[in-house]
Parts: sequence; structure tokens; C-alpha cells
Amino acid sequence: MRRLGLTIAAAVLAAGLGGCGKSDANKAGEGAAATASSQPGGSAATEPAALSEDEKKALLASFPAPYNAADISNGETQFGLCRSCHTINAGGTNMTGPNLHGVFGKKAGANNPDYKYSDAIKAATFTWDLPHLDQWLADPKGFLPGTKMTFAGVKDANDRRDLVAYVAMETGYKPK
Ligand code: HEC
Repeated sequence: MRRLGLTIAAAVLAAGLGGCGKSDANKAGEGAAATASSQPGGSAATEPAALSEDEKKALLASFPAPYNAADISNGETQFGLCRSCHTINAGGTNMTGPNLHGVFGKKAGANNPDYKYSDAIKAATFTWDLPHLDQWLADPKGFLPGTKMTFAGVKDANDRRDLVAYVAMETGYKPK
């Protein structure tokens, strides 16, 4: 599935070369290294172990309402709408849109210094949280005129709730 063997081999190789394994993958230096090797899973060695089902349930329950009632598997299905433009894993590459890992708690248009954001999103002053993502996904261009995210939006509020919770869970969001 999804070139797992290749990813592991790359991670082992990277670790063997001494480039990995000590610092946060989101720091600028490591990010540049991950981009240079263009390996979406290149920072696997620094990622925390995948959460167990029980840990995922506990994390979901700690989300603010209504996201704590989300159907994560529907959220994952909905994220199929985003995959052509976005990676979500730690150290994932920027594609048409920026990698989304670690986006919550960051100012809009600031999560990926390597990515060429539009002037519109760079000028925005809000910080990503679950309700902001929800509003953005309802109507990206209405929410932020001038954005270069050409995506029509997700109209169904329950689908959006599920999608926002899935993105939160996969990008390392922790409720305060
Ligand atoms: C056709 C490509 C495309 C699709 C599909 C798409 N996006 Fe985007 N997305 C972009 C682009 C391009 C940007 C950069 C916007 C800018 O610079 O104005 C962006 C920006 C974002 C941002 C802001 C990131 C930041 O660092 O501030 C978020 C969050 C986001 N998208 C989430 C999503 C989600 C969730 C979906 C699926 C429902 C989605 N996008 C679908 C292209 C896309």
C-alpha cells in the first residue's frame, strides 16, 4: 500500500546518513531536507507512533463541539476531495496546495514558509482553528476573496464537521 516499503527504506537510509531523527520535522532545516529528497514520508523517523483506536477516540472526545461528534471515517472519505492538491502527513510535500500538517494554531498562509501563498491569504490575520477551517471549506473564495485555492466548497455541514475533525486528527491538532 502506498509505497510503504519505499518510504521505510528511504527513512532508514536518511537515518543512516545522519540527517534525521533528532529534531522536529517542522523546523526549517529538516523541512528543506524533506523537500530536497522529495520523500513525503521522509520524516517518518521523527513522527510519533500512530495512535491506537482508543487514543483516537479519546482525542476525538476532547475536540470542541460539534467536532467531538464527528464520523472520522466519513471525514477521511471527504478528504478525498482534497488529496489532489494537499498532503496531510508530517513532512509531506507541497503540491498545488500546501502540506497541511501542523496547520492549526498557525496564522493563515504561514504554516509552510517554502510554499508560495497568494497575497490574499498572506494578508489574512486569523489563526487556523476548527471553526475557521469549517467556514473556509464551506466556501473558500467567499471566505477569503483572492485566494488561489480553486475549490468549490463542501456544502453539507455534517460532511464538513467530519472533514474538519479528520484533518485535525491527522495534522497533530491538540485542543488547548
Ligand atoms: C484544486 C486544488 C485544491 C483543492 C482540491 C483543495 N485545496 Fe486547499 N489549498 C489550495 C491552494 C492553492 C491553497 C493556497 C491558498 C492561497 O495561497 O491563497 C490552499 C490552502 C489551503 C489551506 C490553508 C493552509 C495554510 O497553510 O494556511 C487549508 C487549511 C486548505 N487549503 C484545506 C483544504 C481542504 C481540507 C481541502 C479539501 C476539502 C482542500 N483544501 C482542497 C488548493 C486546493
